[in-house]
Amino acid sequence: MKTVRTIAELRGHLAGAREEGKDVAFVATMGSLHAGHLALVDEAKARGGLVVLSIFVNPLQFGPGEDYDAYPRQEATDAGLAEERGVDVLFAPTVAEVYPDGELGVRVVPKKLVDRLCGLSRPGHFEGVLTVVAKLFGMVGPDVAVFGQKDWQQLTLIRRMVKDLNMPVEIVVAPIVREEDGLALSSRNAYLTPPQRERALTLSRGLFAAKDAFDQGVTDAERIKAKARGTMRGSDVEPEYIELVDPDTLDPLQEAVPGAVLAIAARIGETRLIDNLILGSP
Ligand code: PAF
Repeated sequence: MKTVRTIAELRGHLAGAREEGKDVAFVATMGSLHAGHLALVDEAKARGGLVVLSIFVNPLQFGPGEDYDAYPRQEATDAGLAEERGVDVLFAPTVAEVYPDGELGVRVVPKKLVDRLCGLSRPGHFEGVLTVVAKLFGMVGPDVAVFGQKDWQQLTLIRRMVKDLNMPVEIVVAPIVREEDGLALSSRNAYLTPPQRERALTLSRGLFAAKDAFDQGVTDAERIKAKARGTMRGSDVEPEYIELVDPDTLDPLQEAVPGAVLAIAARIGETRLIDNLILGSP
């Protein structure tokens, strides 16, 4: 695995691969890699070609008072994991490399899909995500980019950006990876104390209970959401939202249909966690 820190080095390296006729598959991360990220790498590798993984904790997507400084950083461990999994190029730029002038003169501002779910409590977050993803696409020039299902709103916005701005990249989605007890993998799980981790389990338990209700024939969205809330009652976890939404428009649904996304966010102590399930999927 080759580690590069500058855009010039990255482009030089990728030019060689492209001359050999190789496609480029890209996985963007903020590091602190776990099995969920490694599943994205597997998906990228399955496409053949060269796999590029970026590690960049993007300051632009953290709001005031959010965990930018505290965000877990472990580049040496990440590099080992990435290499073991078969990443060809690790791109780990500095903030100065990505934002050489500090403030950007142009950003990618989402006009739809942000006035809901996480967008309500994290103003500016998705603008920061889309802007850095657009920049990373510009640096890497991938043929394929793999993103995780866990950040469904992010995935939907990235798909929309690629469509609306005619970016020549195929977006592939990789399913959520869970611990054996159901907890969705997240770099932020590292913040949880053992009792908090136990409480965090109520998110996936709520989702799975709601999915069971759907599998048994309940389609009324309010009843499905009530099932999730009921399961969480007594756990001392107050969800920020539980929403059943259309997978593409993220509009709330009255009636559940296969493919609908049931999404949840909750704070466990200081740690904000998200999770979701696609109804009708295994
Ligand atoms: O999902 C993430 O880790 C980040 O939001 C991303 C896509 C790498 C952009 O910083």
